[in-house]
Amino acid sequence: MDLKITEVGPRDGLQNESKQISTADKLSFIQKLSESGIKNIEATSFVKKEAIPQLGDAKELSASLDFQKNSNYSALTPNLKGYEAAIASGFKEVAVFTAASESFTKKNINRTILESIEGFREIFKQAQKDGIRVRGYVSTVIDCPYEGKIAPSKVLDVTKILLDQGAYEISLGETIGTAVPSEVEALLKLLLKEIPSAKLAGHFHDTYSMAIANVHKSYEMGIRSFDSSAGGLGGCPYAKGASGNLATEDLVYYFHKSGIQTGIDLEKLVQASKFMEEILGRKLTSKAYIALRSKMVAS
Ligand code: HMG
Ligand code: MG
Repeated sequence: MDLKITEVGPRDGLQNESKQISTADKLSFIQKLSESGIKNIEATSFVKKEAIPQLGDAKELSASLDFQKNSNYSALTPNLKGYEAAIASGFKEVAVFTAASESFTKKNINRTILESIEGFREIFKQAQKDGIRVRGYVSTVIDCPYEGKIAPSKVLDVTKILLDQGAYEISLGETIGTAVPSEVEALLKLLLKEIPSAKLAGHFHDTYSMAIANVHKSYEMGIRSFDSSAGGLGGCPYAKGASGNLATEDLVYYFHKSGIQTGIDLEKLVQASKFMEEILGRKLTSKAYIALRSKMVAS
């Protein structure tokens, strides 16, 4: 399987920024990310406005997305209402999301895990009729901010159900960025006994700077799909203290230096992050971004 990178900055990144970003600036950001060669971009989410006001403009934003261009845009949808809004807005791919921890699921989507899965049934049914691809997220795959350590067997159970329902891939959300490679290895060892590696993706947050080490371990174990956000934007409003996603710059730098091509132009990617950094008015934290940006300024 070819390497796949899903840029989640416009969704996972911006959902956690306190500053409200205009729809026009979000569109320019997405455009710049596209121009850097990123093919898969999670552009927004269709959730309750009160839950994530930062992405309350999902409909307006989507109206100006160019779905004909090369990027595969996707949107996060927690229920049928969100799914229908996403499809009406032109998306051909959506992502449903639940977790391996009951407390996190309750805080995040006000459902038990089972209720969330039951709710997704109607999305999968409709998506099959509509020819829409559905990706699944399972959050808190290693640690939960409320329950602590999560048993890998719980992750396996939820992952298998979402795949059986029709998800083409499950993104394993290391939501609070506390995991180390040995824990990722233990989790993947169990999952890969029953699930092909091509069905799994790594979604690492970088709170303790462990994300790239976790990517390295996952790659060694056969995982070829990873989520990241430009400049390391992001976090999760329902996981206090969780910092941003693994930065796309860190991920691309890691792959290129390792001789693995991504099709992404790092300089253009840095320009996209710099654009958002200026709008946010705060420094982005990705080490690779900072190093590459200063090199570009110097040259
Ligand atoms: P609820 O209050 O239980 O929903 O919220 P409800 O069905 O009782 O409806 C309440 C109201 O919300 C109603 O409005 C609905 O119409 C409206 P009213 O009739 O009262 O005016 N509503 C909606 N509005 C717009 N779009 C919708 C929608 N659904 C209901 N889709 C709900 C349940 C799931 C909707 C809510 O809790 C929610 O939207 N949560 C979203 C939370 C979220 O987005 N979290 C961040 C993303 S997850 C994440 O970041 C983790 C990830 O990155 C992986 C990782 O790192 O681990 C993916
Ligand atoms: Mg996330």
